[in-house]
Amino acid sequence: MTDHTIPKHVGIIMDGNGRWANQRGMPRVEGHRKGAGRTKEIIEAAADLGIKTLTLYAFSIENWKRPHDEVITLMDLLDFYLKTEIEDLLNKGLVFKVIGNKEKLPDNIQYLVEEAERITGSNTGMNLMMAISYGGRDEIVRAVKRFIEKGGDMDEVNEESFEENLDTGGVTPVDLIIRTGGEKRISNFLVWQAAYAELFFTDTLWPDFTKEEFIYAIEDYKLRQRRFGMIPDKAET
Ligand code: FPP
Repeated sequence: MTDHTIPKHVGIIMDGNGRWANQRGMPRVEGHRKGAGRTKEIIEAAADLGIKTLTLYAFSIENWKRPHDEVITLMDLLDFYLKTEIEDLLNKGLVFKVIGNKEKLPDNIQYLVEEAERITGSNTGMNLMMAISYGGRDEIVRAVKRFIEKGGDMDEVNEESFEENLDTGGVTPVDLIIRTGGEKRISNFLVWQAAYAELFFTDTLWPDFTKEEFIYAIEDYKLRQRRFGMIPDKAET
């Protein structure tokens, strides 16, 4: 049996900004600028479809190793985004949250993130999670540390108690991961949460990824048969 319901939680690996710019003889940073603009259309589409959580992979922990200029541009874009879009997030009733190693972020970004999380915290609309300075393995290691810091007992370790300590604690696992840009891998995104995720890969570069293609990916998901390791007629749908 197929599910036919929309995914509760969608994650997107927004890949291909650099190639989009290269193809046009532009510097890579122009691709990121165009890509940042694209996020808005997709966030709106996700909220309109009734998706409960949208997680966008905006900056991986490995991205710190990119050329300094590119890192600065991405941080500037985030700074701009957080300053200009906060009003819009509020108007749309979105709950904003950043997952990732926030301590590595510049102070101005940390401050803006905290403010955005605080201001939108009591909203009741879609959860918009931005993975920034994020790595799935890093998140798991930090979750272990959190568990130990709280004085967690060995007998209390189980999947549920562990999950609560992840950055995504309290959020349902990711149902669908979309990756643009042609590569077919997860690249350290939501490693724990993606255990049973459906995957959708497209060659479209992120700056060209439209609302229509996003809706197509959701329709494609609705036709998938999710078994969670069980036999078909016993599977939860
Ligand atoms: C991957 O493309 C994309 C990134 C490393 C950053 C994604 C960032 C954005 C879409 C903009 C920032 C978002 C906001 C909301 C401010 P790539 O550079 O790896 O492209 P390539 O594979 O073609 O080189």
